[in-house]
Order: sequence, then C-alpha cells, then structure tokens
Amino acid sequence: MSKGPGVQKMFDAIAGSYDLMNRVMTLGQDQRWRRLVVQRAQDPGTGWALDLATGTGDIAALMRETYPRCRVIGADFSQNMLKEAGRRFAALHICWQACDANCLPYAENSFESVSFGYLLRNVDDAPAVLKEVRRVLKPGGRVVCLDTTPPRKNLLYPFVRFYFRFGIPFLGRFVARDEAAYAYLTGSTMNFYDAEALAAVFVEAGFEDVGYERLMLGTIGVHWGRKKKDGSGKLP
Ligand SMILES: C[S@@+](CC[C@H](N)C(=O)[O-])C[C@H]1O[C@@H](n2cnc3c(N)ncnc32)[C@H](O)[C@@H]1O
Repeated sequence: MSKGPGVQKMFDAIAGSYDLMNRVMTLGQDQRWRRLVVQRAQDPGTGWALDLATGTGDIAALMRETYPRCRVIGADFSQNMLKEAGRRFAALHICWQACDANCLPYAENSFESVSFGYLLRNVDDAPAVLKEVRRVLKPGGRVVCLDTTPPRKNLLYPFVRFYFRFGIPFLGRFVARDEAAYAYLTGSTMNFYDAEALAAVFVEAGFEDVGYERLMLGTIGVHWGRKKKDGSGKLP
C-alpha cells in the first residue's frame, strides 16, 4: 500500500504545531540548514525555483528573500501545511500549489532549481521522485535535498539513537500532541538511505556534480546535484 495518503493525513494533522516542534526538536538549528539549501540552490536570476514538499514554506520564503528577482512556487500535497505557508508568508509573492511529488504538474525543463526539505524519506520510490524532479529542471538546473539520515555507528551513536528513539517521540507527545507522527519520523529516518547511498541514488537518477554535507552529528544531510547541461542522463 502507498505511504502517500497516510503521510498526507499526518501532515494535515500536525500543520499547526509543525514549526514550533521543528525549532524545539532541532535545538533551533533547522533554519540554518534551510539557509544552506538556499545557498546550494544558487540564484535563479529572474527564472523559476520550485520548493517541493514546501510544508509551512520556510525554504520557499528564504529563496524569495535571498534572491528577490526569482519567482518561486512552493508545492505540497498537504492543504493544511500550504494554508500555514500562505498565512505566514502572505507578503512574499510566492505561488503556493497543491501537488504530489510523484507526478509533477509542470512541463519539462521549467525550473532553474528544485529544492525539497524532508520529502524523500516520505515517498515510496525516492529514485522515481528524483527522476520526476530531473524532468522539470532546466539543463544545468540545480537540485538540493535536505533530509534526516540514519546516524553513523560511532561513539555518539547510543546517545543519538536514544534521542531518536525516546526524545523525539516524547517531544512530539508534549509539544505537537502527536507522539505517533514523531515516532514515524524516527522510524522513517532509521530506514532511510545513509548519506553516501543517497548520493548514489542522485547519480543513478541522472544528476552530475553530486555532493553532500552531513550536519547535526551526522543525522541531517544536505545533498545537491545538477541536471546535465545537454539534458542527458540515465533515464529509462
Ligand atoms: C517534514 S515536512 C517538511 C516541510 C518543509 N520542507 C520544511 O523544511 O520544514 C514534509 C512535507 O512533505 C510533504 N510531502 C510528503 N510527501 C509528499 C508528496 N508525495 N508530494 C508532495 N508533498 C509531500 C508533506 O505534506 C509535508 O508538508
């Protein structure tokens, strides 16, 4: 069964407390990571930038504020998250749109950049979503992904694991009043690609100049890449 309907329902339910929970759970670091995403996306000039799985709109808003000439679409399949985004950033002239990342309603070669925060962990087929992202990017366009990654097994692993296993669901219960949603965050993180494997998935999806940076004791990854200038790449 597809994850989609359950994920959509879950984000619709937690939309109102999403931002507060993010700040608390990441000890206030989450906006810094989003700024890195925007830096990696680079200036789209007067072109279009797509922020997919935009949620309550932080990355889309940072794109508009950082590169004021660009035009930004913030897209998500949760109507409640989009409502929050529209309310928070009403002054910023961002186009908020409802759509599913598995099947984007945009023509090929449309965007200078496509960013997404915490999307791939939530979809059934991350390689297929990356190919869809590649389709709508212009040749030379940039993809940037922010997501949680399974912690590495080093000296800190027991502490990090404890925080994921108990700390995050605990905060979810008291801050977001939804323990299950944040237990899902832990489960989906532990079962997700590690940073190196995810970079290989980007390459397999046809991107070049792929790189990544690990943050927050290796539990957060920012990955980036570029659609080949001639538009080629491994597509089935
Ligand atoms: C954890 S939130 C991230 C929001 C935002 N990017 C951020 O940085 O905080 C994940 C978002 O992905 C959206 N999402 C998950 N799967 C999706 C899909 N298949 N298509 C569109 N949006 C999706 C959810 O509705 C949710 O708003």
